[in-house]
Amino acid sequence: MNKLNILIAASEVVPFAKTGGLADVVGALPKALRALGHDVRVVMPRYYGVDREKYALTPLEGSLGVPMGTTGEVWCGVYEGKLPNSDVSIYFIEHEEFFGRAGLYEEGGFGYSDNDVRFIFFSRAVMQLAKKLHFHPDVIHANDWHTAALPLMLNTQYAYDSDFAHTGSLLTIHNLEHQGRFSKGAMEVLDVGWEHFNAYELEEYDGINLLKGGIVHADVISTVSRKYAQEIRTAEFGCGLNTLLDIESAKLHGILNGVDYDEWSPAVDPFIAQKFDVGDMSGKGICKTALQRLFHLPQRNEVPVIGLVGRLAEQKGIELLSHAIWRLLEMDIQIVMLGAGEKWAEHYFSDIAAKHTEKFGCFIGYRNDLAHQIEAGSDLFLMPSLFEPCGLNQIYSLRYGTLPIVRATGGLDDTIENYQNDSLHGTGFKFYDRTVDALVNTVGWAVHTWYNDSKGFDAMRTNGMSKRYDWMGAAQEYETLYYQIKEGRKGQ
Ligand code: ADP
Ligand code: GLC
Repeated sequence: MNKLNILIAASEVVPFAKTGGLADVVGALPKALRALGHDVRVVMPRYYGVDREKYALTPLEGSLGVPMGTTGEVWCGVYEGKLPNSDVSIYFIEHEEFFGRAGLYEEGGFGYSDNDVRFIFFSRAVMQLAKKLHFHPDVIHANDWHTAALPLMLNTQYAYDSDFAHTGSLLTIHNLEHQGRFSKGAMEVLDVGWEHFNAYELEEYDGINLLKGGIVHADVISTVSRKYAQEIRTAEFGCGLNTLLDIESAKLHGILNGVDYDEWSPAVDPFIAQKFDVGDMSGKGICKTALQRLFHLPQRNEVPVIGLVGRLAEQKGIELLSHAIWRLLEMDIQIVMLGAGEKWAEHYFSDIAAKHTEKFGCFIGYRNDLAHQIEAGSDLFLMPSLFEPCGLNQIYSLRYGTLPIVRATGGLDDTIENYQNDSLHGTGFKFYDRTVDALVNTVGWAVHTWYNDSKGFDAMRTNGMSKRYDWMGAAQEYETLYYQIKEGRKGQ
């Protein structure tokens, strides 16, 4: 098979900028694709927080002109660096006004009011950069609404550009909830022509929906688990786009995310108190004690510790949890929580933690080292998500011998096998209903297993720790889609 030129664009990439799993994915997938022999280039914005010196970024010569419709041409700089431990080039679009800010998308809970212009600009800059580099992609791989304009741009402004004569597009939806909905004024900078402002392509309630335009124009669409690829075709999960996704289902695929085991493995993790692995689990107890100490909880080895790490957002089931927590705290357990997000939840959970110091530790903020320590030191890991396109924490948990308790949705359902105590099969505990009762009862089941069925608990630990969701497998599935896209374009 011919090696491919792949251009991946995203709004966040580990280690440079991250608010969620999208960054983990785009930090890891390109390296696996590179290992398969492809020429992969990544592009992201140069936010204020991306340290040019720390990452040894070097400026590309000259500046990049980006046509912005009625605004005219906007000029920007480009920096080049490498994804850590690889020779994959990553380019940073530098524009002080758009990206020289503290946040990626928002500050203090308020989204930037010019997010439409910022990410339309970024997408157009990606196209212009490919030209400047004389890089002729076989596939442009866009991710989420921020870069969803790319397939549309490819089919309009660049449709007859010989630099993109053999280029197709893939749009990966990491989260359908965020669609890039803006007022129709954005059409002026998007500059693809008002004929694309119609109910089938970009228009929605007299505004524009960038993700919708991307879904229509991408050659292929993917989501980050098979289950979520099915779910989003239904009204319950489709966020208003289910009918369109159902119509486009022939080009919709589900590829489960991988995990970077160089970063998330108790055998090599530099953040944890003591390394451990299946053969010798003694380190896990040391990590548990260290975690209890960190959260000022009683250092009791016999009590199960339940970890929670994630954005405090509706998606993650925090409302359910806010009702369930009182009943959970009646059990003989400890809970440690790390999260940031909705203000009410930050206050609510820290207030409860302040009053239940024996049982509940809560850290509001973003701390990667603490996320690792919770994975390593907890016995159980709770993810009561209302929906979860893939979810990474439950996969990390498996590797750390921390049994996930999950709601059976999206990637959570695809990655966790329910415990079967008669056969000792399974890797965690699942519940189906979006109810407080289901959540509490399933935590109760897990806690009961901890106290009364250590054989089953240990067997599940071993089952989970032996599973591998590595990037190479996922990269091969993406590779298959890329070839399919290339073939499809040839026929046009
Ligand atoms: P999502 O992308 O919806 O937030 P994922 O499970 O795919 O959910 O990815 C979340 C990633 O962000 C994980 O790597 C997780 O460890 C990390 N994370 C989330 N919240 C925090 C936090 N408060 N501190 C540190 N890491 C966090
Ligand atoms: C999104 C989803 C999450 C997924 C991540 C990476 O943020 O909410 O489930 O794991 O993207 O694909």
